[in-house]
Amino acid sequence: MSRPVVMLLSGPNLNLLGEREPEVYGRATLADHVEAARAEAESLGWELEHHQSNHEGHLIDLIHTARGRCGALIINPGALTHYSRALADALATFEGPTVELHLSNPAAREDWRRVSVVAPVVTGTIAGFGGVGYPLAVRAAVGAGSG
Ligand code: DQA
Repeated sequence: MSRPVVMLLSGPNLNLLGEREPEVYGRATLADHVEAARAEAESLGWELEHHQSNHEGHLIDLIHTARGRCGALIINPGALTHYSRALADALATFEGPTVELHLSNPAAREDWRRVSVVAPVVTGTIAGFGGVGYPLAVRAAVGAGSG
């Protein structure tokens, strides 16, 4: 039997992790975070599918492909977190558990980062724990619904 799939989505500029503002986001690369998330998913008997895009519409298309196919969804939407109602609407169409994930704690940063337009439609949020958040998010997404 095939394993359930958790989709991990990475939004704009996250492809530059490791080089981009390391004092805020750390020195680990996106590949490092994906590897940690994948190891956690596999230890729980799940498969992890990762996509990164700098384009809002592409992320929305990817969420549509998760509908009816993936058991859970994790997204670090980058700055789209703060203004993309289209992304929020797409997330609301996904039937399984959803985790909003951030390396930094946007609530403790600039005023404009304090608003998340996706927060009202996700199951929960993990923010501010750096790379530790990736395996945590997998555990939360995969565990949600099992008590
Ligand atoms: C981020 C926080 C966002 O405010 C920012 O625009 C990012 C990264 C994080 O992971 O901390 O691109 O989502």
